[in-house]
Amino acid sequence: MASSAVSKQSHCHSLVILAALALFCAAKICLAEKFKPQSESGDDFIKTSCGVTRYPDLCYKTLSAYADTIQDNPTQLANASLSETLKNAESTLNMMQKLLQMRELRPREAGAIKDCVETMKESVDELQKSMLAMRDLEGPDFRMEMSNIQTWVSAALPDEDTCMDGFQGKAINGNVKDTIRIYIVKGSQLTSIALALINRIQ
Ligand SMILES: *[C@@H]1O[C@H](CO)[C@@H](O)[C@H](O)[C@H]1NC(C)=O
Repeated sequence: MASSAVSKQSHCHSLVILAALALFCAAKICLAEKFKPQSESGDDFIKTSCGVTRYPDLCYKTLSAYADTIQDNPTQLANASLSETLKNAESTLNMMQKLLQMRELRPREAGAIKDCVETMKESVDELQKSMLAMRDLEGPDFRMEMSNIQTWVSAALPDEDTCMDGFQGKAINGNVKDTIRIYIVKGSQLTSIALALINRIQ
């Protein structure tokens, strides 16, 4: 009786251990799958290329998801970077337009935000033109298109500085100013990354 109870118990134990092992292995495979870079070569290429930008961490964080598309192609890398910069500029513009609708804004604050909206519109415009020109890089006008893109993306940078200038020395709601600054700083960094990666296309 006693021995059969023990054997039943140990049988039960081994089942539990087996089940635990199976779960553990499944979880391990799952985790390995999840953290495996989508494309090893693309991932290394992105890491190395991001190393030449002024913001390697933000660069890698923003672009590693595109490893499969990018592979080791500098044009695809620059294009993905430009596309992320444009997306960010568009959402910044959107956020600013929402801020403008806040009822408790003072006229000075509204004025400063409106200036930002104008400069962001210009940035979005420059970045959209650049995205379109990226498509023509395969064609015979490579040099001219590259030079246009470099000019337009550079122009998207100082525009953002101009936006923050509007907030200098004015009685501005601290939250509004901080929110805009956070977006603008990220936008400047993304633009700088895109420009550095564009400059590496040959
Ligand atoms: C650049 O990326 C965008 C967005 O992912 C894509 O629609 C476009 O086709 C790409 N352009 C080139 C030249 O690969």
